[in-house]
Amino acid sequence: MALGWLSRLLKQEPPLVVASPSATPPASVERSSSAESAPGDANAPQQAESGAPVRFLDANDMAPAAPPATPVDLLIARLREHPDVATSPDAVAILDLLSGDPDTIIRQLPAAARASLSLCDDASLSRWQFAEKLSSDPALVQAVLRTANSAAFGVGKEPVIGIEPALDRIGIGGARAIIFANAVDGALSRPGGEFNSMASDVWNHMVRSAPIARALAPLFDTDPDEAFSIALLHDVGKLVIFDRISVLRANKRRDVQLRPGFVRDLLNALHEPLGASALQAWGMGPRSARAIGAHHCRTSDGEPNPLAEVVFVAELSDHAARRNVPLDLQRVWFDAHITVDLPRMVPILHSFSVPFVY
Ligand SMILES: [Fe+2]
Ligand SMILES: [Fe+2]
Repeated sequence: MALGWLSRLLKQEPPLVVASPSATPPASVERSSSAESAPGDANAPQQAESGAPVRFLDANDMAPAAPPATPVDLLIARLREHPDVATSPDAVAILDLLSGDPDTIIRQLPAAARASLSLCDDASLSRWQFAEKLSSDPALVQAVLRTANSAAFGVGKEPVIGIEPALDRIGIGGARAIIFANAVDGALSRPGGEFNSMASDVWNHMVRSAPIARALAPLFDTDPDEAFSIALLHDVGKLVIFDRISVLRANKRRDVQLRPGFVRDLLNALHEPLGASALQAWGMGPRSARAIGAHHCRTSDGEPNPLAEVVFVAELSDHAARRNVPLDLQRVWFDAHITVDLPRMVPILHSFSVPFVY
């Protein structure tokens, strides 16, 4: 039943009309000056009492127009009708925390992280100077070395143990992706309780998907560094939701209580648009936001989105490898309208031990 509910949610049905106390009344409704008409009375006559002067609305009578509903607003309106809301003590509170202006929902990256990112864009720095500056952050050094020695960059090569050869191997694009992911990891809070392991699973899945996306990128005519960095953060919308759960936990001074079915549908429904908003807020650019906002290839704006396609195939490949359940490539290609030649995928999927059929 829950899956049927989710599939209805994810189909772009016509938006619900949600009654809101702050909704602006239709401009065509005239307001009577009659003293008998109680404010807010929906049944009040629109015709003035006999003899009473009629005054028409002018600009001063109009409340400020409410901002248009965003895709996240519409999805949240539907999530409020989820069958598990009634039995999830904190469902309404978390939906409230996820509603509204993305600037208040999505945390800014720390200043130190923004400074590190700006180093990547500083063409005046030599590779040595760049390495020297990165070396002051042990967590970053560790992440860069781990990536340089990973299957995506280091297969068949000698392990590197210094930051400079590691940067030579992964390039500034790879380093930028790592610095960015590190900054996101530092900015977003852990949700506590059972949600901590879910957040860790999301990170691990993204880290495993990134090298697969990098290897697949040329088949999709996309840039390997770009595919790597987008795949490394493709489910960041889920981390934004976990971050809001951490806020709710701090407010309540206890672990947040949500039914598993509600959490699953909350994450599935919101993580794409929230991820896109996050990347926009963090200045990753519109191409990244567009790819992350549609990385399950469930929606389309009618234009090709090969970065979304490559991330989609990479993340499905990771799920297939982790669960050891063969990936049905024909079905994926059909559902996502992918046109890449399937046999070209074979050696790459084998190199990542991804089970598949086609
Ligand atoms: Fe996803
Ligand atoms: Fe994913």
